[in-house]
Amino acid sequence: DLLNAGAKPLEGRTAIVTSGPTHEPIDPVRYIANRSSGRQGHAIAAALAKLGAKVTLVSGPVTIPDPAGVTTVHVETASEMLEAVTAQLPTDIAVMVAAVADWRVVSSADQKIKKQPGEAPAPLQLAENPDILKTVGHHARRPKLVIGFAAETQNVEANGRAKLERKGADMIVANDVSPETGVMGGNRNRVKIISAKGIDEWPDLAKDEVAGRLAALIASRLPN
Ligand code: CTP
Ligand code: CA
Repeated sequence: DLLNAGAKPLEGRTAIVTSGPTHEPIDPVRYIANRSSGRQGHAIAAALAKLGAKVTLVSGPVTIPDPAGVTTVHVETASEMLEAVTAQLPTDIAVMVAAVADWRVVSSADQKIKKQPGEAPAPLQLAENPDILKTVGHHARRPKLVIGFAAETQNVEANGRAKLERKGADMIVANDVSPETGVMGGNRNRVKIISAKGIDEWPDLAKDEVAGRLAALIASRLPN
């Protein structure tokens, strides 16, 4: 909307955004992680700041630069990400975009694990990581608007709806991340917005455009 260009509907509002993967150490040189460039999360943090919000971005390890106009906190693991996020509560807005590793290694080794030639390694013992979105969605200091993502390779709508419910979110941005879509690591995204109001399908857009539209939607749905 040209008349509203430069409008700052989120002036005086606070937001927390997570982005990127987390890295869960196996030993000092190895880790478990999800694929994530951080592009979509970083773009959302920048788009909220552009609308006037005071934004803290909690980012896992990524190679892209910190967005301008945003306070970025760098973390490595899911546990560190959870701590950095809860330290910011309450905020008006939370958008959890990070591709958090679902599991961590129970006791990561202090020293590099050496290969034993010709022998299979000992199996890794894994434990479930804390669910950051779910924690925020059910928190005593819950933000006014809690938004999550749902990265799916099948049954995008059904899985997205289930996540909306389970995580206590107001909105889920669901997308198909099958390899053939090129979403992972790419510049474009095609998402469905799932909320109690129903499902809204957005066209194929640049990740920056998805971020801009989502920031505008957040501004329109944010309670006073
Ligand atoms: N999420 C999170 N903390 C976790 C796992 C996920 O905050 N430990 C958030 C993601 O940032 C995203 C949403 O939850 O906003 C959905 O993540 P996703 O990986 O799609 O869902 P999971 O609940 O982990 O389920 P699964 O991976 O089995 O589909
Ligand atoms: Ca997951």
